[in-house]
Amino acid sequence: MVREGFARPGRCRDRHGQCGAGAGLTKGPMLARPETPREPGAIMRPAIVLALLIAGATPAPAQAPPPYTPGPLNITMPADWATRFLNYSSIDNEQRKIVRRFYVNPEALAAATPGAPLPSGTMIVMADHRARLDAQGNPLRDLRGRFMYEPTPFLLSVQEKRDGWGEGYPADIRNGNWEYARFNPDLSRQAGMDTAGSMRPCFTCHLGVRPQQDFAFDFWDYVNRPR
Ligand code: HEC
Repeated sequence: MVREGFARPGRCRDRHGQCGAGAGLTKGPMLARPETPREPGAIMRPAIVLALLIAGATPAPAQAPPPYTPGPLNITMPADWATRFLNYSSIDNEQRKIVRRFYVNPEALAAATPGAPLPSGTMIVMADHRARLDAQGNPLRDLRGRFMYEPTPFLLSVQEKRDGWGEGYPADIRNGNWEYARFNPDLSRQAGMDTAGSMRPCFTCHLGVRPQQDFAFDFWDYVNRPR
C-alpha cells in the first residue's frame, strides 16, 4: 500500500472496505420537474387576493429548525464539494485495486489546530476510485509509481461533526459529535444508508481504532503531522 504522507502503524485500514465494499455507481433516474400549468390571463379570485393580503400583513413566524435526531440524514453533500474541498491525502489499495482520495472542507482545515479536537463543522469526504488496469488486470502506475484511476469515484464515505450532534447515541457507539453517511457519485444517498442503525459499523470501527484522534484517520494525521 502506497500512501502520501507518513506511515501510521496498527491501523485496520484494509478492513475498511468491507463495509459497503463493491457498492457501485447506482445512478437514480433524473426526475423531470413538471412545469406548473398556467392559465393564460387567469384572474385571481377575491378570496385568493384576500388570503394573499393577510399573508403579507402578518409576518410568518420564524421557522425553528427541526430538533436533532441521530442518523445519517443530518449530513447532506454540498453540490460544489468536488471543486471546493481540499485533498489532503490519498491511498493506493493494492488488494482492492482502488485509490482512496481524502478531502475536507477548507473552513475546517483553516480552523483545525494540532492536538485539539477537530473543529465543529468539519466534513471529511473519502472518495473511492477504481484504479485503471492494464491488459493483465494490474493497476497502471504513474511516473511516481502511484495508481492511475478513473476520474469519477464510485463511492463517497463521509463523516461530519457539529456541536450538538451525537446526543442520543448509546455510549458504546457514540463518536463524540460525529455523524456518518454514504453517497453515490451523483450525491444521492446510498441505498439502505438512511438510518442510524445502518451506519453502526462506521461508529463501531472508528470508535475502536481512533478514539484518541477524534474518531478521524488521515485528516487528524494531516493536522497533527510533524512540521
Ligand atoms: C472496519 C473499520 C472501519 C469501518 C467499518 C468504517 N471505517 Fe471509515 N475508516 C477506517 C480506516 C482504517 C480509515 C483510514 C483510511 C483507510 O486506511 O482506508 C477510515 C477512514 C474514513 C474516513 C476518512 C477519515 C479521515 O480522517 O481522513 C471517512 C470519512 C470514513 N472512514 C467514513 C466511514 C463511513 C461513512 C463508514 C460507514 C459506512 C466507515 N467509515 C466505516 C475504518 C473503518
